[in-house]
Amino acid sequence: MREFLLHSRTGYSNSSFNGLINAGRLDIVYQCILTSVFKSAAHRHDVVFHAVLNGPPTPPVHIAVAGSELKDARIDERSWERILKNVLSGKEHPGISIDRTPFQRLVQQKHSDNYGIFVLNSKGAMISNQEFKENNLFILGDHVGLPRNDESFALRYGTRLSLGKEKYLAASCIDIINYTLDQRD
Ligand SMILES: C[S@@+](CC[C@H](N)C(=O)[O-])C[C@H]1O[C@@H](n2cnc3c(N)ncnc32)[C@H](O)[C@@H]1O
Repeated sequence: MREFLLHSRTGYSNSSFNGLINAGRLDIVYQCILTSVFKSAAHRHDVVFHAVLNGPPTPPVHIAVAGSELKDARIDERSWERILKNVLSGKEHPGISIDRTPFQRLVQQKHSDNYGIFVLNSKGAMISNQEFKENNLFILGDHVGLPRNDESFALRYGTRLSLGKEKYLAASCIDIINYTLDQRD
C-alpha cells in the first residue's frame, strides 16, 4: 500500500464553511485527494489518503479516503466541497471514513503495522536513492509546513525524504511520489 498523510494545521474540523479555500485551506486537502487517489479514468486501488485537520472548531479530525472503495466522486472542486461537507457533518460516503485519531497516534499505528515512514522535506535523502517497504506512509505538511514537534515525532519512526531542492505544492509532491513508484513497479 501507498498511504499519504497530510498534516493540515488550519483545515476546518466541521462543515460550516463556504468554499474550501475559506475553510482553513481545505482546498489543499482536495488537491491532495485528487493526486493521491485518481488516475485518468480510474482510482488507485493501492492508495489511501489521510488528512488530519487541526483547524477550528473541534480538532483533530482524521479523514481517510481509500481508492479501492471510493465511489460517487467526480474530480472537480465543487463536488469535493459537497463530499467534505457531508462527511464532516456526519453523513456517510463510500470509501471515506472519519474519526478523531490525532496525527501522532496515526503515525505510531502505521509504524506498528510495519509501514515505512517517510517525512517529506526538501532537506532529506533523495527519493532516487531510497528503498521502500511493501507498505509505506508519506507525510506532508500543508501551506505552512509540518509543525516542528510533529516532524520530530514522526522522525522517531522514519526518515526525511526529498524530491529535490525546489519546494513543491503538497499535491505536486504526491504526484511525483506516485509517478516514481509507478515507474519502479
Ligand atoms: C507547500 S510545501 C510547504 C511550504 C512551507 N512553507 C515549508 O517551507 O515547509 C508543502 C509540503 O510539501 C513537502 N515538500 C515540498 N517540497 C518538497 C521537496 N522538494 N521535497 C520533499 N518534500 C517537499 C513538505 O512536506 C512540505 O511541508
